[in-house]
Amino acid sequence: MTKKMTISKILNSKGDKPLVMITAYDALFANLFEESADILLVGDSLNTSFAGKDDTLSATLEQMIYHTGAVCSGSPASFVICDMPFGTYTTKKEALKNAVKVFQSTQADAVKIEGGADKADIVKHLTSNGIAVCGHIGLLPQSVRSEGGYKVKGKDEASALSLIEDAKAIEAAGAFCMVIEGVKADVAERVAKSVSIPLVGIGAGAGVDGQVLVFSDMLGLFEKFTPKFVKKYLEGASVVREAVAEYAKEVRSREFPSEKYSY
Ligand code: KIV
Repeated sequence: MTKKMTISKILNSKGDKPLVMITAYDALFANLFEESADILLVGDSLNTSFAGKDDTLSATLEQMIYHTGAVCSGSPASFVICDMPFGTYTTKKEALKNAVKVFQSTQADAVKIEGGADKADIVKHLTSNGIAVCGHIGLLPQSVRSEGGYKVKGKDEASALSLIEDAKAIEAAGAFCMVIEGVKADVAERVAKSVSIPLVGIGAGAGVDGQVLVFSDMLGLFEKFTPKFVKKYLEGASVVREAVAEYAKEVRSREFPSEKYSY
């Protein structure tokens, strides 16, 4: 069995080995990822990739708890982070109530909160009450409607300085790591160097302390759109389509089930 990651190992990975984070939404895939990934993120991206919605905003706490529970059951040896969905951490009180619910209903090791300096007081309230927090700065998918789209950050010096300020505020609030999304590679590297906790990048280049990808993107299962930063390690959609077509053909021709598959 793989040895479970801990917060101190995650912190000590900075400057040593890049962290491998991947999303997981169910027990089946979580179990498959356990051996290779350091951290499983139950991202609210499940709302787009698995629930078929246009963005992550309608994901609910109940939905996240259900999927986090499944991931923890399928992969007890993984360090699991549950994404706090949109609208569940608008005040310190709400954030703590909801994060406690996640911790009491699942075996999650940490929660993830989107936002920079503006969310530091909320992150501080959680970390000082026994909830481990992973930050998320840069492009914030939960702000897609208020920002009018998914906008890459760090395109000018003011934006770079504001990202550094965000990272420092989240670190000071007690987060043990941070996702940095959709940021120019050189700027993401500067941000990573400005803090002592690991920065896990997605669409943030190679100069950060780890990488995260949405598993349905990197396995080529999600076909609606593929962001520039996604490398497909499998043409999953074609593999699945071909297998199901073969099954359908064999059922229709009565080739399946043969004697081998019959009692
Ligand atoms: O929801 C998610 O999968 C995420 C990743 C994009 C980091 O937050």
